[in-house]
Amino acid sequence: MKKFNRNIPYNLLPDLPPDIDMNDTKILKACIEANRLLGELKGYCQTLPDTKLLINTLVLQESKDSSAIENIVTTQDELYKAVISIDDEVNQNSNAKEVLLYREALYMGMRMMKQRGLTTNTIVAIMQKLKNTDAGIRKTTGTKLANPVTHEIIYTPPDGETLIREKLKSLESFINLDKRDIDPLVKMALVHYQFEAIHPFGDGNGRTGRILNVLFLVHKELLSIPVLYLSSFIIENKTEYYKLLQKVTEYGSWAEWILYMLKAVSETAALTLNKITQIQRLKEDTAIMIKNIMKYSYNSELVDLIFTFPYVKISSLENNNIAKRQTASIYLKKLAKADILVPHKMGKEIYYINHRLMNLLSN
Ligand SMILES: Nc1ncnc2c1ncn2[C@@H]1O[C@H](COP(=O)(O)OP(=O)(O)O)[C@@H](O)[C@H]1O
Ligand SMILES: [Mg+2]
Repeated sequence: MKKFNRNIPYNLLPDLPPDIDMNDTKILKACIEANRLLGELKGYCQTLPDTKLLINTLVLQESKDSSAIENIVTTQDELYKAVISIDDEVNQNSNAKEVLLYREALYMGMRMMKQRGLTTNTIVAIMQKLKNTDAGIRKTTGTKLANPVTHEIIYTPPDGETLIREKLKSLESFINLDKRDIDPLVKMALVHYQFEAIHPFGDGNGRTGRILNVLFLVHKELLSIPVLYLSSFIIENKTEYYKLLQKVTEYGSWAEWILYMLKAVSETAALTLNKITQIQRLKEDTAIMIKNIMKYSYNSELVDLIFTFPYVKISSLENNNIAKRQTASIYLKKLAKADILVPHKMGKEIYYINHRLMNLLSN
């Protein structure tokens, strides 16, 4: 075998699956644990009445985290303001906009996958939505991956559109072939590496690859709704993420990479289950408080609204047909007085923040 050279396109990137021992005890153990925790999360989600609200906030959080891995950084504050001001361009900061595109790309990917499967076309469409571009697979040469700190070249992906398409085609077959010999979570780890190693696009590969992870889990029915997001784990363990991807290429260190991803699934599934439970509880408690305050004018849509959009303003209530301007203003003031929402003045606008939910989300 020719030695891998960081500076030359890795056209000899082998297709999946790699020739490794899938019955390694460490991997098996980690697999059982990750599947158990993920199963608990899936089971709990299936008991929930209104998963839409929940997904919304989790997806937004993931959009923020996954973009942050690529140094597209927004604060919670900028992001939630952008969400609620989606129609008034002026209020939007450009990173927040890109984060919102990530969310759209994820939702569009879900829809496309359900209609047409997890295919190369779906993957390309996700990247196009995310990057807001018509460009598809890389046509030009010269894409290289550099160490984000030292800028030294660490990897040069395969070159040439035809070759890249062949590799994606093979990845697509691997994703969709359901032989029972590889655990789906291990498969997700293999697929994520492979996609990043093919690196089919000029930019957006990291984010598209992470969207693929959650789509894959739903595709294989390990989750019924998209709620497991690994980016916060990756942020916490970012150096390893880069290092382990590289070590698969250079030394075939698959076991380490697979264990990393299984650990990411275990930890994140446990955290997510905990978070969702707390959000549900908070929502129920908040509904009771709001009922007490608003009495006969109580409206459950208002509760839904502040749990879908942790930042609201008067116009949000108007736009969602909850109340007319004056009444909306009275409602929000009442909720602020009861410390359910915290008012925050920004220029002429007052945002009302569901601060308890924000605390849960950012922890
Ligand atoms: N050595 C490596 N080999 C393959 N892929 C890597 C390696 N190091 C990092 N990556 C992947 O490349 C991604 C960055 O690629 P990029 O196209 O810039 O993504 P994005 O635009 O979403 O910023 C990282 O998030 C990671 O998933
Ligand atoms: Mg990038």
